[in-house]
Amino acid sequence: MSVEFEAKKSVITPEGVFIIGTYDENGVPNAMNAAWGAQSDYGEITLFLGKHKTTDNIEKTGAFTVAFGTVDTVRISDYFGVETGNKVNKIEKAGCHVRRSAHVNAPIIEEYPLTLECKCRKWDPETGVLVGEIVSMQADESILTDGKVDQAKLRPIIFDAAGLTYREVGGVVGKAFGDGLALK
Ligand SMILES: Cc1cc2nc3c(=O)[nH]c(=O)nc-3n(C[C@H](O)[C@H](O)[C@H](O)COP(=O)(O)O)c2cc1C
Repeated sequence: MSVEFEAKKSVITPEGVFIIGTYDENGVPNAMNAAWGAQSDYGEITLFLGKHKTTDNIEKTGAFTVAFGTVDTVRISDYFGVETGNKVNKIEKAGCHVRRSAHVNAPIIEEYPLTLECKCRKWDPETGVLVGEIVSMQADESILTDGKVDQAKLRPIIFDAAGLTYREVGGVVGKAFGDGLALK
């Protein structure tokens, strides 16, 4: 038997735990947590945002970083989603360390091992659509195997909209562009 849910209770999971890093006009770093986002082209990420300190910053700098929440960063990642940079310096309060991206005017938060550096390609406050051109990606060597990002080392988390929890991404269960070929 199928159970029907109203639209607002629909569950689109897995969702990412994207940590958006920005500077304000004085160079003060900030970070926010966003679940609504996806790769929208090669070298492009699209996020869906309300009005936040983060979007005010992006309007001023035209740049942002996107780090991926991990098992080791659950607590700070959630904090970045329940506090606003309009009130406190979240980076300081979370005890994080930042360095300026060499490519865009946005901070890289060193506690996160994988970070995209993005130029703002499009920001529309009406629809909340933020499109970023990924100009570079920084990966800590601790998460690499044979020069590639190793998800088993990164240990990324996802947001579960039904349980309001963060979950660790599980192991490999198949080969993409491979397992289906047997049915062709
Ligand atoms: C799990 C989680 C997911 C979130 N996803 C989004 C999102 O996709 N879009 C959005 O606008 N806000 C989202 N938020 C809310 C912002 O992170 C929150 O309003 C934050 O305080 C904004 O920070 P800022 O004001 O410092 O920019 C999310 C919060 C949490 C905890």
